[in-house]
Amino acid sequence: MLSFILIIGALCLLFILYMRAENWRNREELYKTGFDTRSLWLKRLWPNRIVHPLPPALPGALPIIGHLHKGFTWSSNLFNFFKILSEDCVRQGGVTVLKLGPEIHYAITDPQDALTAAKSCLRRHYVFDFVKVWQGNSIGTSAGETWTRHRKLLNPAFSLPVIHGFLDVFNSQAKKLINEVEPFVGKGLFDHRPYFLKNNFETLCAGTFGIDAISEKQHEQYLQSAYKLIRLFKEKLFKVWLQIDFIYKLTGYKKKEDQLVKNLHSLTKAVLEQKRITKENEVETNTSGLKYKAFLDLLIDLSADGVFTEKEIREQTEIILTTGFETTSTQLTFTMLLLGAHPDVQEKLYQELLEVLGPERDLGKYDLNKLVYTNAVLMESLRVFPTVPVVLRCVDQDVKLKNYTMNAGTYCVIFPLIPNVSAKDKKGDQFRPERWLDDDSCSSQDFAGFGLGKRGCIGKTYAMIDMKVKLAHFIRRYRVRADMSQLQLSADFVLKPVSGHEISIERRHSPAA
Ligand code: HEM
Repeated sequence: MLSFILIIGALCLLFILYMRAENWRNREELYKTGFDTRSLWLKRLWPNRIVHPLPPALPGALPIIGHLHKGFTWSSNLFNFFKILSEDCVRQGGVTVLKLGPEIHYAITDPQDALTAAKSCLRRHYVFDFVKVWQGNSIGTSAGETWTRHRKLLNPAFSLPVIHGFLDVFNSQAKKLINEVEPFVGKGLFDHRPYFLKNNFETLCAGTFGIDAISEKQHEQYLQSAYKLIRLFKEKLFKVWLQIDFIYKLTGYKKKEDQLVKNLHSLTKAVLEQKRITKENEVETNTSGLKYKAFLDLLIDLSADGVFTEKEIREQTEIILTTGFETTSTQLTFTMLLLGAHPDVQEKLYQELLEVLGPERDLGKYDLNKLVYTNAVLMESLRVFPTVPVVLRCVDQDVKLKNYTMNAGTYCVIFPLIPNVSAKDKKGDQFRPERWLDDDSCSSQDFAGFGLGKRGCIGKTYAMIDMKVKLAHFIRRYRVRADMSQLQLSADFVLKPVSGHEISIERRHSPAA
């Protein structure tokens, strides 16, 4: 017994000495910016420097730990927490405070303050540092000069002319999708999400990566590993002790993390290998009469010029794999569900599609701007079910909002969508695409489904055009029905349906038939 106590005592002593050493090493930096770049757990113990008065806090904070005790329930249903937090924030005038231990997080729903915060705070929240084991210094995780330089280099691969060049891919993938779900016609409810996921993954491979899709098995393994890893990150956020490296190792989490990261990297390597094999034929692809460099071609060419290292190419590919298909397929899953539950909206959309495109024609670049109602349907779907429901950033300088100044060294949680409408429109919970049309309550400038400011979504144009094309083909072929009353959601990296999201489809007849 005595030896057991001595061992525990010795471990505690070592732990305290280690903490003090780390504390001393990081002291200067902590004082200067409030951020700890090396040991996250230390940051969790260091109170934020508060100079400017704080807005009212979210109810339920306890001394010292703040709202951390709620973290255990939140982590299992993060979307519910986001909803409660954003609603509370609206009630408190658009800005409130959430305390995770000694850390201050400003929650922001006021649209003007959301824009100010997103523009001023470009560094991502430290939770993205967890992601670095997987994605290194990709544009999604990096900060400062590296992020600015890399984002500038990669922006052209997502510009409008490049995306127009993908229209052939989008159209043929849309037709493949509607043929794949054909067996469900008249057969009652089915889960359409896996079809959209697979199809959008193939679209990303064919368009942005310029390769044939990876095998379904590899794709499935990628998704499962990504979900499991994100769950680990979520646990690490709320179980703060897991942020101490040796506890993370001792409890077996590190081993699990390493294995999952290995699985994910192996798919990225497969993508890059395939690209290299076929590259000669694809440097300049000519679809729709446009010459363009797809994302991977651009990356590989930049690496030949010495701009990106091999590791950086893998990291940038990793972030596009993570963000480039689950988001769009999930948003389309939600859109089908919403249209199925709102036949009047679906009918109006169908009429616009017939008027602009006729019953079967492919979409060309000149059609895109004419599909005004289709655009509003997608924006409204993103408002009601924002696939990326929050934007998490570090406040690395004092930032003046309308009524408060955010203290440097704190964090902010921006809700870009929910507030835009609830502030103006009492029917904010209704699915009503009309609100985005000129004569109604919402200006499209309010729309923040793809984030705000210059760190917003790089794939916005790609996503909107891809979704428009898929929606146009699907709704012209099928009448969709759905009942959303049993819908269950979960949120980790993206907001997604867990159950109750099935639809049924019936073949439409063209007006001539
Ligand atoms: C419905 C589809 C999509 C939605 C709702 C969406 C939403 C968002 C949002 C809100 C952000 C900003 C997050 C923040 O500021 O913290 C973001 C960032 C990002 N998105 Fe998307 N996105 C979508 C599709 C895509 C696609 C198709 C791609 C790539 C092909 C993509 C690539 C990225 C990347 C790389 C970033 C990080 C940008 C940076 O930090 O500089 N997204 N997205």
